[in-house]
Amino acid sequence: MKRARCDGAVVHAAELVVGLAPGSKALGKGLVLERYADGAVAWLDGEIVDAGPSEDVLEEWEPEETYDATGNLVTAGLVDAHTHLVWGGDRADEFALRLSGVSYEDVAKKGGGILLTVRATRALEEEAMFDRACATARRMLAAGTTTIEAKSGYELTYEGELAVLAIGHRVSRETWLGVVGTALSAHVVPPEYEGRRKEYVDEVVIPVAIEAQDRGHAKFVDCFVEAGAFTPDDARRIARATRGARLGLRLHVDQLRDGGGAALAAELRAASADHLDHASAKGLAALAACGTVAVLTPGATLTLGGPAPDVATLRKHHVATAIATDWNPGTSTVDSLVLCLALACRLYKMTPEEVFVGATESAAKSLGLSGRVGCLRPGADADIVQWGAPDLGTLSYHMGPAWVEAVWKGGRSVLGRTREPDEPWGGGT
Ligand code: NIG
Ligand code: FE
Repeated sequence: MKRARCDGAVVHAAELVVGLAPGSKALGKGLVLERYADGAVAWLDGEIVDAGPSEDVLEEWEPEETYDATGNLVTAGLVDAHTHLVWGGDRADEFALRLSGVSYEDVAKKGGGILLTVRATRALEEEAMFDRACATARRMLAAGTTTIEAKSGYELTYEGELAVLAIGHRVSRETWLGVVGTALSAHVVPPEYEGRRKEYVDEVVIPVAIEAQDRGHAKFVDCFVEAGAFTPDDARRIARATRGARLGLRLHVDQLRDGGGAALAAELRAASADHLDHASAKGLAALAACGTVAVLTPGATLTLGGPAPDVATLRKHHVATAIATDWNPGTSTVDSLVLCLALACRLYKMTPEEVFVGATESAAKSLGLSGRVGCLRPGADADIVQWGAPDLGTLSYHMGPAWVEAVWKGGRSVLGRTREPDEPWGGGT
């Protein structure tokens, strides 16, 4: 039989993970992965066309370029569903203060915290912001992440927030990292609106989200629901006002205490409820009913020293649960998602399979990209990582180095032993 031509294939992987098996649960008992020993994946025109045992794939396809992955794990590129990509300065001084016993909230009350980063971000030229974002994007790619969600939230003016979301979009066109924008102008109330939270929501938060969606720079709007930030009613108003603009909703909830945020996310049919370290079992159960993805952030849990989210309840209700870096200067200075998988296993007692699904298919689900990224099924973008580790268990058993041997984005070799990228991908997400 004549073999069909394809652009490329990675073959002879020690373990190839395609994604969740048909009918599999996303978390807990019943989670089953479709995976192959001596596996291969083939692509054409930037999309996966086949994945399975090497013998079967090579019988079907004649690749122009063949990459041998003997001894290595091969998976879809990781998907980071919660990052604060663009910010200025750092908060190392605050970190030292917190180590001496001052709480995250007390630092914020003294004018530090998020507002300190707002001042440092506003002081940056746009080009400097872009350079910093690109440097982060390169580190993420080098650690096996090929798609991220990127929030605004450190400019907090109409123009500034839109500029940051435009930078995220530019990163996705000029580097090889796919970026999905989220307008998080409801991060904290900036000083010029002190005592006028409602006006800030009406004049900045809602217009920024709608305009960014219109420009194609944001798919989601987010709100930090916590004492000292925004209230559940603010979140309701933001959700109502932006829904017509076809913006999905993400919410920072129950991070510092249980504020009923998980239930709120369910009530508002949010795409994701993020953090959840203090969420009640009742709230978490509510997520299952409406398909809201729980996005857990082990870097922030570790930094804040808080309790782990109630994973047993998430499991019981088979809530799709993503693991994300939450890359930001205050609570999570980690941009390596693969390291966060190792942390989630340890802090949350999740299995290597659960955290892997959390950084691929559940993350993709939360971004409305199911079947497009986060799996190696036919039709998905050919975003592929060849890991130095031989299998999934070994990947999160190690706590770094990043273990990346090679990365392909949309079928283009962007990193690894093959060659460095010679031109931007330009595809966007
Ligand atoms: O996701 N909780 C709110 N936002 C960030 C922290 C932001 C900061 O401290 O700069 C988070 O943890
Ligand atoms: Fe966050």
